[in-house]
Amino acid sequence: MVLNLPFSPAIQARLRWWLLFLLPLWPLANLVGLGVSNDLGTDPAKFVVDEMGTWAINFLWITLAITPARQVLGWGWALKFRRMMGLYALFYGVLHLLAFCTFLIGWRSDLFFRELTERPYIIVGALALLILIPMGITSTKSMMRRLGKRWKTLHRWIYPASLLVMLHFIWQIRASFYEQLIYGLLLAVLLGYRLYLRYQR
Ligand code: HEM
Repeated sequence: MVLNLPFSPAIQARLRWWLLFLLPLWPLANLVGLGVSNDLGTDPAKFVVDEMGTWAINFLWITLAITPARQVLGWGWALKFRRMMGLYALFYGVLHLLAFCTFLIGWRSDLFFRELTERPYIIVGALALLILIPMGITSTKSMMRRLGKRWKTLHRWIYPASLLVMLHFIWQIRASFYEQLIYGLLLAVLLGYRLYLRYQR
């Protein structure tokens, strides 16, 4: 995708970087705005937890979509933003956990462990986050250099993490399941593409 802007390529690249850096902060700013204007709905705690979880999964899926977008659509520039999108997935995942601890269980460790033992979807969500944390920490260029081949192996853990997140989401199906269906289909395409390439080789 080429944007014909009246700027030099260097300035265009910088503008794109700022746009893609600031845009993902919009859901958080929007949530703060809704909170300030007392517009978080009838169950604000659940709303905040769900919103943060939704944006965590959105950024995780976007991160997974970058390689196919580069290879299939020729969006070479998107690769530069893979790390940023992954870090936003982690950022919203951590906010999701913090919102859960603050608004749903009031930072009570006994309640946290009860939730962990009584609700399997919490266990898989926690496992997914535990996988994303070391990936975020080691996402820098210097860690990439230091870890060498092990970096790639570690960062392939995004696949089990995304499956755990999907399970976390599916486990919450009550009546309607169309959202889970859409996210599930997207994940099937994103992971299916990798499997296809692997078998091609
Ligand atoms: C320790 C880690 C986690 C905990 C304790 C946790 C907890 C929760 C809770 C309590 C809900 C709300 C259930 C309800 O509405 O009744 C939820 C929903 C959700 N979580 Fe998590 N979660 C964790 C990790 C994650 C991660 C890592 C992701 C994604 C990267 C994620 C994505 C979601 C999504 C997409 C929803 C559904 C939101 C919706 O219904 O709109 N969660 N989680």
